[in-house]
Amino acid sequence: MSVSEERRGFIGLAFGAVAAVGGAFSLVAMKKTWDPLPSVKAAGFTTVDLSPMKEGEIRQVEWRKKPIFILKKEASAAKNEARDVVVGNDRYIVVIGLCTHLGCIPEWKASKAAFVCACHGGEFNAEGVQTYGPPPRPLDIPPFKVDGTKLVLGEVGPEYEKLIGKA
Ligand code: FES
Repeated sequence: MSVSEERRGFIGLAFGAVAAVGGAFSLVAMKKTWDPLPSVKAAGFTTVDLSPMKEGEIRQVEWRKKPIFILKKEASAAKNEARDVVVGNDRYIVVIGLCTHLGCIPEWKASKAAFVCACHGGEFNAEGVQTYGPPPRPLDIPPFKVDGTKLVLGEVGPEYEKLIGKA
């Protein structure tokens, strides 16, 4: 093989490699466009097992980068059919932890049984309903589905639709 034939062979191989890599990238890009649902769905859900929670306990989880407050109501607490998330025999308050005034994260104050927003002094009761200051509406309830003792945040279940219809 002469030097020029060798060079041609090398150039041919180099072009082939570039084409193959490009082809692989475009296949990945196409797959992303065609098949976005499973990964988006999986990424958009937060599943929380509520069974270890005790009455009066509050937990914070994250759903789509937002804080979610989950409060297990005492069995003796008054029912609120417009706000309670019923799981088995227990009732929970599940709210997005962003103040409905300008979006600060309120803090749970057990001594007041209230969510208090440090930004402008807004307050919400234990059910997430505004009781003081500038917040114009209750804390929002995230879409959810009840699955046994688990709460699947991000999936719209019949319990959520019922609640939103009543809220
Ligand atoms: S952001 Fe909470 S009171 Fe203004």
